[in-house]
Amino acid sequence: MTHRREFLKYLAGSPLMAGLGAGWVSDALAQNSIGGGSSTQTATELALSRLPSNASEALDVFDMRAVASKTIPPAHWGYMMSGVDGEETLRANEEAYKQYQLRARRFVDVSKMDHSVELFGTKYSSPIILSAVGGQKAYHPDGELAVARACKARNQVQMLSTTTSNTVEDVTEARGAPVWFQLYTTNHFEFATKLVQRAEHAGSQVVCVTLDRAAGRNMETATRFLRIDNRTCTNCHTATGSDRRGRPMFSDIELDSNDVTSPQYTWDYIKQLRGVTKMKIVIKGLESREDAALAIKYGADGIIVSNHGGRAQETGRGTLEDLVEVVAEVKGRIPVIVDGGVRRGADVLKALALGATAVGIGRPYIWGLGAFGQEGVERVVEMMNAELRLAMGGVGARTIKEISPNNIVRRA
Ligand SMILES: Cc1cc2nc3c(=O)[nH]c(=O)nc-3n(C[C@H](O)[C@H](O)[C@H](O)COP(=O)(O)O)c2cc1C
Repeated sequence: MTHRREFLKYLAGSPLMAGLGAGWVSDALAQNSIGGGSSTQTATELALSRLPSNASEALDVFDMRAVASKTIPPAHWGYMMSGVDGEETLRANEEAYKQYQLRARRFVDVSKMDHSVELFGTKYSSPIILSAVGGQKAYHPDGELAVARACKARNQVQMLSTTTSNTVEDVTEARGAPVWFQLYTTNHFEFATKLVQRAEHAGSQVVCVTLDRAAGRNMETATRFLRIDNRTCTNCHTATGSDRRGRPMFSDIELDSNDVTSPQYTWDYIKQLRGVTKMKIVIKGLESREDAALAIKYGADGIIVSNHGGRAQETGRGTLEDLVEVVAEVKGRIPVIVDGGVRRGADVLKALALGATAVGIGRPYIWGLGAFGQEGVERVVEMMNAELRLAMGGVGARTIKEISPNNIVRRA
């Protein structure tokens, strides 16, 4: 019990939890049901003290987060949870969803629900994409392979990072179908060519070019957690873990630098990339109408409105706010996906009602991975899809196509 109390206090006091939906922790402490030192457990205390012991017991993604905070080592946990600077953007991503409410509708026959979508010619179970997260063995020994198996079981899109800890060939085999490949612009274009052509050869039909990391970043939470982790990092990887040398996708590339997020490129890069691949080119990390217009002008096949989960630049803006201006600019010409702060099926519905074609999740599935491996990831997808169905049913939308701006209203 003491252990549990300490854990809850740690969670409640952690800067990471601010704005991250951990209200139940502080509520429990405020009610004195956890911290009072009473020898008699209240029902609330008992219910709250029980973390899921297996994936199927989790009731929402925050249950997964609570378990993962125990299973993932501090340095890796801090890195994954971290935003940049004071983490205003990280919080803004989630807060933006709270600015919208659902408009309930009644007496619509919602006995048959279908949230499947078609993206770039392939049908998937739902519009929830598992966005690129690098180095997933940091969270579970099976890493991206576990995520691939979960995506196969649930037929969801898996976007594989350039800095994957398993090769694109192995992940594609585990997924049993092509994955989307995420590309960081490298300091030499021939490296990017090699990466892209390798992914294409493995079957990938979509490449997502991430543009939001060109300027470097300041991750204070990651640094704080690194300081309290007394394991020897270099037993498994280089001191910072950010060196691309030794990463599986760079096995046949001779890097002369540690930098894969080169700041040297401009929009011509997309044309250059078009010359070396037949894959659909999706731009990840756009946040403005001007850049949306340029993306279309330079031939992008899709846009992902993203701020890297609040990990790239401290704009203070949530991606849902960015989405509105991007959708207005794109006018349905190419798919617009949004990620950052999506934690509930209702959030998915809100983004779609504002014009998104699909949404991405990052941390939520990594919590599932860290908590219970493949089963944890599957459960995260299952819970969020179930929540999406409930939200759709409540607003009278039976299919993704039926979701419209009428389903939501901006908080007064
Ligand atoms: C630990 C971590 C690693 C990430 N690695 C990558 C990456 O390698 N490439 C990339 O394009 N985005 C990366 N992202 C950003 C995600 O693709 C996604 O945009 C973001 O996580 C969505 O926000 P959310 O975590 O609030 O759902 C990473 C995010 C996290 C949390």
